[in-house]
Amino acid sequence: MVEQRTPISSRTIAEDDPVPDVKNVVLIMSGKGGVGKSTVAANLSLALVRAGYRVGLLDADMYGPSVPTLLGITGQPLSDGKRIRPLERFGLRLMSIGFLLDDPKSAIVWRGPMLHGALVQFLKDVDWGGLDFLILDLPPGTGDIALTLSQRVRANGSLIVTTPQEVALQDVYKSVSMCQKVGIPITGVVENESYFLCDGCDKRHELFGSGGGQKVAEFAGAPLLAQIPLHPDVRQWGDAGTPVVQASPGSGSAKAFVDLAERLVVELDRHNAETSEGLVIDRSGGVNKHLPIAR
Ligand SMILES: Nc1ncnc2c1ncn2[C@@H]1O[C@H](COP(=O)(O)OP(=O)(O)O)[C@@H](O)[C@H]1O
Ligand SMILES: [Mg+2]
Ligand SMILES: [Zn+2]
Repeated sequence: MVEQRTPISSRTIAEDDPVPDVKNVVLIMSGKGGVGKSTVAANLSLALVRAGYRVGLLDADMYGPSVPTLLGITGQPLSDGKRIRPLERFGLRLMSIGFLLDDPKSAIVWRGPMLHGALVQFLKDVDWGGLDFLILDLPPGTGDIALTLSQRVRANGSLIVTTPQEVALQDVYKSVSMCQKVGIPITGVVENESYFLCDGCDKRHELFGSGGGQKVAEFAGAPLLAQIPLHPDVRQWGDAGTPVVQASPGSGSAKAFVDLAERLVVELDRHNAETSEGLVIDRSGGVNKHLPIAR
C-alpha cells in the first residue's frame, strides 16, 4: 500500500485560486440522485490514496452529506481560529457539513447565501495542505451548489455518474449541458450499477438494461471511463463505513474503482498537458462535440 506515487501534473492555477496547493480538482456529479455519486467519490478517492496520491474528499452535498457514513467518521474538526483541519481516515483528508452538525443525519435547512458561504469556506478555510487531488462529491441536480462550485473552484475535471437505464438519462443529460455551459471540463462518464455478477456463473447480468453510460458519453463527447458492477458488497461496506476499495481490495467491485482511478489519472494528465500548451478548450456546448479540444 505504501507505493511511490506516479507524479501527476497540475491544472493551471490562477492567483485568486481558492485552493492553490491542489493540483487537480475533480467534481463528481449527476443530474440524478441515488445513482452512486457518493459511492463513486469515496471509492475513487481511496483508490487514489492507495496508489500513493495525496487526496482530499469534500462532501459538497450540504442537504444530504454522505461522507460521515461512508467513511465511518464523526467528530468536530479542529481549528486554530483561522483554518479548519480536515478529518482524516484511511489516509484520506475529509470535510463534510456532517462533521459540524450535532446529528449528522438531520436535514439542513439553510438559505442560499449561508450555503454558499459554507461551501466557499470548505474550500478556502480548510487546511487541505498540498494535494494531488481534491474530489468533490456534489449533490444531485444542476442547482445552486453546482453553479457556485463551478464558479469558485477551478475544476479541471468532472465525472458524470449515471446508471444504465433509460429513465436516468434525461436528468443526467442536464448535468452534461450545465458543465458545457459553465465551462467545466467533462473528463469522463461512469456507469454505475452496470451489471450484476452472481455466484453461479461468470455472465454479466444486466439488470437495468444496457447502453446508458455509452449514450451519456456520446452526448458529452467524453469517454466512458468505467462500468461499475452492482454488488451487495458495495452497499454493505459503504454502510459499514469502510468502502469496498479499502475493505476488500481484491474484489471485482474494488478493481472496477481502481481501474477508474487509473483511467482518470491518464485523462487528467492529458487534459493538463493540452491546456498548459495554450490550447483552447472547446466550450461550444457540444456543437463540436467530437473535437473537444480546438486550437
Ligand atoms: N455499485 C453498487 N452496488 C451496490 N450498491 C450500490 C452501488 N452503488 C451505489 N450503491 C448503493 O446505492 C445507494 C445510493 O448510492 P449513493 O452513492 O448514496 O448515491 P448518490 O450519492 O448518487 O445519491 C447507497 O445505498 C449505495 O450503497
Ligand atoms: Mg450523494
Ligand atoms: Zn449468473
